[in-house]
Amino acid sequence: MSAVTSPSSPKFEPNSGDLFAFDGAEELSQAWRDGLTPDPALTVSEWADRHRILSPRASAEPGRYRTDRTPYMRAIIDALSPTHPARRIVVMKSAQVGFTEGGNNWIGYVIHHAPGPMLAVQPTVELAKRFSRQRIDPLVNESPALRERVKPARSRDAGNTVLSKEFPAGLLVITGANSAVGLRSMPARYLFLDEVDAYPPSADEEGDPVALAEARTRTFSWRSKVLLGSTPTIHGLSRIEREYEASDPPDLRRRHLAGAYGGR
Ligand SMILES: Nc1ncnc2c1ncn2[C@@H]1O[C@H](COP(=O)(O)OP(=O)(O)O)[C@@H](O)[C@H]1O
Ligand SMILES: [Mg+2]
Repeated sequence: MSAVTSPSSPKFEPNSGDLFAFDGAEELSQAWRDGLTPDPALTVSEWADRHRILSPRASAEPGRYRTDRTPYMRAIIDALSPTHPARRIVVMKSAQVGFTEGGNNWIGYVIHHAPGPMLAVQPTVELAKRFSRQRIDPLVNESPALRERVKPARSRDAGNTVLSKEFPAGLLVITGANSAVGLRSMPARYLFLDEVDAYPPSADEEGDPVALAEARTRTFSWRSKVLLGSTPTIHGLSRIEREYEASDPPDLRRRHLAGAYGGR
């Protein structure tokens, strides 16, 4: 060893000399090179098509998830991929068009490929519990890649409850917009705000739940991502309508839409 580190020794060359002439050297070298290879730059839609199974408990059309079934969602969920520069994605939508399912694909992707702290917000804590049982449990249980990363809540020391799911290098917290404590429970790199038009104007008198939750992403600055979506309620009062109007200028929005529909 001293010969290698000594200043007078010949230049270190991993593939030459006696240093790598031992049993298993080739395997070791291969493992080293594999470790240097980055994960495939999968997009969220590619991940969903490859790994996601819709459970009969949670979906009207159980079986393999196909982005082609809801093609207008492709551009939206792909903007959630780590390689995409968008940081805040606003979706004003109609009911039952696969938006929550798109957010769930993102949750699956984060657990499997881009772990970090994630906060998913439903209008109330009651709805958050229901969302966890009816949508998140099947998401995890039906996909082997997720099942092996998230332990069932009932197992001892799983680190998991209905509203909190640990996985290697990350944590998913599910909460309600009516709970200020839940909204400021942790720093979040990823934030999924679902059905924001049903949020109360103030969480426990601490102010706007969307602003409270978004404040949790600040420490992650450009590495954070926020997804806000809702069916709009009353014109002029709707939160998602306001967010949508304040987002990209109309010509850019039109181009996004053209992209979502394959250029038409
Ligand atoms: N790509 C898809 N393939 C098959 N079923 C889907 C797909 N996307 C959504 N669904 C199903 O359609 C229904 C509505 O989806 P959901 O995500 O709850 O809609 P939204 O949040 O827009 O109201 C659910 O039963 C969901 O599982
Ligand atoms: Mg929904």
